[in-house]
Amino acid sequence: MASVEQALRQAASLLAGGGIADPRHEARILLGHVMGLTREQVLLRHQSSMDAPQMANLIGLARRRAAHEPIAYLTGAREFWGLSFDVTRDTLIPRPDSETLIEAALRFANRAALNSPRILDLGTGSGCLLISLLTELPSAEGVGTDRSYAALAVARRNASRHGVSARAHFAAGSWGQAVAQHFDLIIANPPYIAATARAGLMPEVRDHEPAEALYAGARGDEAYTAIAPEVLRLLAPSGCAFVELGAGLGDRVATIFRAAGLAECERRKDLAGIARCGVFKRERIG
Ligand SMILES: C[S@@+](CC[C@H](N)C(=O)[O-])C[C@H]1O[C@@H](n2cnc3c(N)ncnc32)[C@H](O)[C@@H]1O
Repeated sequence: MASVEQALRQAASLLAGGGIADPRHEARILLGHVMGLTREQVLLRHQSSMDAPQMANLIGLARRRAAHEPIAYLTGAREFWGLSFDVTRDTLIPRPDSETLIEAALRFANRAALNSPRILDLGTGSGCLLISLLTELPSAEGVGTDRSYAALAVARRNASRHGVSARAHFAAGSWGQAVAQHFDLIIANPPYIAATARAGLMPEVRDHEPAEALYAGARGDEAYTAIAPEVLRLLAPSGCAFVELGAGLGDRVATIFRAAGLAECERRKDLAGIARCGVFKRERIG
């Protein structure tokens, strides 16, 4: 039997050996996962003991993390917009930067005083964007699309976990292929990494997250080109679209969307000051 403190020390030492930036913090997360404890409970139980199978599980996970598997895939969860989402290797791990889209979409929904907005999430992955909006807008309904059936299964699970299953529908297909009606809000966080940038990515991303969630052709703009006409076709006349921008891609995306008949009305920055969310409306004719 090892004490929690001894186990934490051993796990943190493995993580430090793998070059993990905050080994003690990550060791606590893994230990909490293995023992089914919250972070607060871990802090309070340093003198408790762990049984041998728990210890073996923790050390196995610490070794995998030291080899740069993302911690969210090891624990199966990641927090986004204050909610815990299931994630698997079939889904992108939700990023805090994407909360910029949620803030912008909620601001629009509140200002437009939409009664029961219809929301479309193109490339829903874990469903984090659509589900976060549905929890904030109790009369809204939405559709999440993805080409990955495995990702859609995770999104459905997350919708059920957060009590919005009755208002969240999921459809397989390329972007908006499976939908025909108009939406008041369209959100999309498409893949936007240039294939040529692959080698420079962190191993956590490059070697573990699904390629179809990351890469979008030689310049990183292929998914935007595919999505723009879909947004035009599916956006309600007074609706608004919120599109995540890869760093430095804002002007290129605005040009692609303008060519499709959509006008950029705002570009919002994330907490790091990077332009992260393009806000688009239909271009006014005449
Ligand atoms: C960057 S991830 C975003 C996932 C999630 N919305 C988020 O913000 O965490 C892009 C998603 O688009 C999906 N995708 C890629 N190509 C697609 C296509 N042609 N049609 C539909 N979804 C696609 C991927 O499977 C992936 O789930």
